[in-house]
Amino acid sequence: MGRFDEKFKIVGGKPLCGEVLIDGSKNAVLPILAATLLVDGRSIIHNCPNISDTWDSIGILRHLGCDVVYDGSSLVVDASGAVSAPLPNAYVEKMRSSMIFVGSLLGRFSQIETIPPGGCMLGERPIDLHLKAFEAMGVVFEGGESLIKGKAATLKGTKISLSFPSVGATQNIMLAAVLAKGETIIEKAAKEPEIVDLQGFLNAAGAKVSGAGTSTIVIKGVKALKCPEYTIMPDRIVAGTYLVAGAITRGEVTLKNAKYQDIFPISDALVAMGYKIYNDGNKITLTTKGGIIRPLSLISTGPHPAFPTDMQPQFVALLSTIQGRCSRNCESMVKENVFEARDAHVPELAKMGANITVAEGTHFTIKGAASLTGAVVDAKDLRGGAALILAGLFAQGETIVNNAYYVKRGYADIVGDLRGLGADISIF
Ligand code: UD1
Repeated sequence: MGRFDEKFKIVGGKPLCGEVLIDGSKNAVLPILAATLLVDGRSIIHNCPNISDTWDSIGILRHLGCDVVYDGSSLVVDASGAVSAPLPNAYVEKMRSSMIFVGSLLGRFSQIETIPPGGCMLGERPIDLHLKAFEAMGVVFEGGESLIKGKAATLKGTKISLSFPSVGATQNIMLAAVLAKGETIIEKAAKEPEIVDLQGFLNAAGAKVSGAGTSTIVIKGVKALKCPEYTIMPDRIVAGTYLVAGAITRGEVTLKNAKYQDIFPISDALVAMGYKIYNDGNKITLTTKGGIIRPLSLISTGPHPAFPTDMQPQFVALLSTIQGRCSRNCESMVKENVFEARDAHVPELAKMGANITVAEGTHFTIKGAASLTGAVVDAKDLRGGAALILAGLFAQGETIVNNAYYVKRGYADIVGDLRGLGADISIF
């Protein structure tokens, strides 16, 4: 999946116009790939995004004895020969979502061994909620902080009330509960659309899961799953990123295969800034025409349906280009409530001339600039890297974004997609 020294080169200043097809969702496909381990047979999954995280999950599945065939979109996993083995360190270190295999390994084999997960550095990112839930289901853990090693005589359904609606913990409990004995109830569950997609896959395999998309999810354990065929939902964060690409270049971008009901927290923010958004069933169009674009008094990230933390860096880039005062006569403000250190893009944007003040790593005040200047900048994480590309599309002159591999973790073909909209971008 490419080299570690790849960079993006962007020559900015062109309004982007045209249509772009949205691929399957990264945050939906990874838990669903983990879920295939629960099926003692074949799972067929369509619309799997061709990103490095998908390939890494395939690597984990193969390590666990599964046969996997992937053509870059559809994927067939045969988990009938799956074995219980420690998760491979090389994958776990680089991919936080490898943690999602803990729930499915416990569900299938009632035992797990792995080092704690790595991934984007956005702050602490603890896993206590996951481990506490597994304990409540009968898993006994041994080993210290550097090893997650646990076993259950029988995995049992129970009532679990999360103290925060963690996406990963909700998915992990669902995976562990599908084949567990009895009924599991998750209270204060995450309501993200990707949770609904996981329920869709599990039920397509004959599981009994209900309530996803609300704060209470009920899973009635079944003895075995049958072979499912399922299509992954479109990626709402890729969709949002491309809407911002249209917005930041003052262009007109149409998304094909995006779901409006999943992206409304993002489109509502763009509409509040003066952009026009049209939803015509299969297509969503953003246009700058006919609107007066102004700063936004406050974006506050939070669990769905609040504004997604995965769109915060892209909006910080966009707001850096919007001059004037907001409707409440203030500068733009963004408050990051999910992660305590999701601000690595800020100093990089500053190299391009963005004027952003950060307090406590989580409160951003943004004074929009008339122009940004191309610069050499470093992607430090996936969405922060996407934000730098967006800023490069607006900036005068040439921008080089180092560490392209971060961005490739979540965007199958950002260069091809943006070029299709008229951008001058390449990877080298
Ligand atoms: C989070 C985002 C998800 C995004 C993903 C990747 C939310 C609610 N979740 O999911 O939309 O796609 O990052 O960027 O926006 N926490 C604990 N203990 C735990 C688990 C989590 O305290 O065991 C806390 C975290 O420190 C964090 C919050 O809960 O403050 C969000 O965590 P969670 O939803 O679990 O994170 P991800 O599943 O990584």
